[in-house]
Amino acid sequence: MLERRQLLQWAGVAALAGAGGAAWVAYGPRRAGAQAGAPFTNYPLDPVDPANFQQKLFMPGAGGPLGVLDVTAPITIKAGAGSFALLPPRESPFLLYQTDYAGKAYQNPILRIESGARFTAVLDNALPEPTIIHWHGLHTPADMDGHPRDTIAPGKRFNYDFTVSNRGGTYWYHTHAHELTAKQAYNGLASFFLIEDDDQRKISKALDLQLGVTDLPVVIQDKRFDGQGKLVYAPSMPDTMMGWLGDIVLTNLTPNAVQTMTPRTYRLRLLNGSNARIYRLAFVTGSTRLGFTVIGNDGGLLERPEAATEAFLAPGERLDVLFDAGQVQPGTDVFLKSLAFEPMENEGGAGMGGMGGMGRMMAGMSSSRLPLGAAFNILKLPVVAGERVVASLPATLSTIKPIATSGAAQRKIELSMQQMRFLINGRSFRMDEIAFDVKRSSVEVWSISNQGMGMPHPMHIHGFSFQVLERLNSPSDHAGMTRFGKGRMVSDLGWKDTVLVWPGETVRIALDFSHDYPGDQIYLFHCHNLEHEDAGMMINFRVQG
Ligand code: C2O
Ligand code: CU
Ligand code: CU
Repeated sequence: MLERRQLLQWAGVAALAGAGGAAWVAYGPRRAGAQAGAPFTNYPLDPVDPANFQQKLFMPGAGGPLGVLDVTAPITIKAGAGSFALLPPRESPFLLYQTDYAGKAYQNPILRIESGARFTAVLDNALPEPTIIHWHGLHTPADMDGHPRDTIAPGKRFNYDFTVSNRGGTYWYHTHAHELTAKQAYNGLASFFLIEDDDQRKISKALDLQLGVTDLPVVIQDKRFDGQGKLVYAPSMPDTMMGWLGDIVLTNLTPNAVQTMTPRTYRLRLLNGSNARIYRLAFVTGSTRLGFTVIGNDGGLLERPEAATEAFLAPGERLDVLFDAGQVQPGTDVFLKSLAFEPMENEGGAGMGGMGGMGRMMAGMSSSRLPLGAAFNILKLPVVAGERVVASLPATLSTIKPIATSGAAQRKIELSMQQMRFLINGRSFRMDEIAFDVKRSSVEVWSISNQGMGMPHPMHIHGFSFQVLERLNSPSDHAGMTRFGKGRMVSDLGWKDTVLVWPGETVRIALDFSHDYPGDQIYLFHCHNLEHEDAGMMINFRVQG
């Protein structure tokens, strides 16, 4: 049943699997005139118009695209070029991670594994260009991390073997090929990496959640398509400065998706897998914002559930939320939206007034029809009649020990721009250059300052998770969201690996560089705006053994 549906929805992958090109016509009235192969010349998937939301959200099944693969033995992941019907029935060239496991074929599998288990995988590069896989958010030895220096040539293999030491949570994996990350990730090379543990099982049990049914992994990505419905990636100079912004919003690779809900609580594991777009998420019906509960983010569950009505989600970040669809009458259409925000507010705030107009100028030059900060819909959630199930949430979700920062080394990280390049502490990435050393097992406090220059930067660290201590000089239109003390927002709680730093803002984070690996370990710290990363907004740091 599931497999048949997958074949129908994913004609492209079905074709890859040798099943031939099944046509899929579930397009709704607005697409009724579209003929297979006819040019895709208009903009029928404008996410601003709620009437354009017609396609069923693709949900992970037991195989196929985004299939959930329970890893209990070594796997082989083949990175290869294929095609995919992103805008069915139109095929688009697409890059895919392909795995055959226990008699099933998977494309971009959702890897699921128990905390503490051994993970053994071979990456087989069947692409015509170099690649490597990075395990985003995972604490691994540096040589297992998928650092761009480990990028492998076409036809080569890379062997991964490490213990999954992170706690349960919603992590992900993606390409980290040197200077090709943005293009390859945009063209498909990314998926979820879910880690299970007792805390995760406890919440699934308490809320009677089932992965793919009421526990919904949802990756949000914005893309652009040409007249034939093929993916376009062609950043101009201003696009590279801003990051490549799409104009069609995909959730689980479905444009303008619809997920029907009954009056009960759903878990949404939201992952921003976009190259550059920041979302200001809210659940809305008409003009009314509905409440939701944040239970986790980058590094697993929070200590306790937190009520919210909005949250930012920057590229690379995850937000685990509970949404009670029983809070509205059956027959109500709820939308997960991105609310409007001012992306350049505060720019030049840190005494850089003279440069203040740069960001606004660049924003005006981006070639996207959907500017950064525009309001649009992401996912339609029609609530239908059904048994009302009221969930009682555990008061405590997990234990998070605050990193003890007394006596910690203080480090300044300055984000700046020179000659149309974004820099970290004045540097642009060089493979063989170590920006600084930290001592193994030491605790450091980093003050990351975005020196104006107009762009928010989602800053990401490899190898370690951190805790957000404080936000200083935040944009004034975030005032309503910073109610968690020290200027922090709901997305700042718990364990993080990516934190958004707004123009003019300083974010202080605490890091504990303890690890069990022998010798020096070299990791990356970079902006997860993938165009910024590929343009060199990245540094190496070394944990001295
Ligand atoms: Cu998700 Cu170095 O990145
Ligand atoms: Cu990472
Ligand atoms: Cu950046």
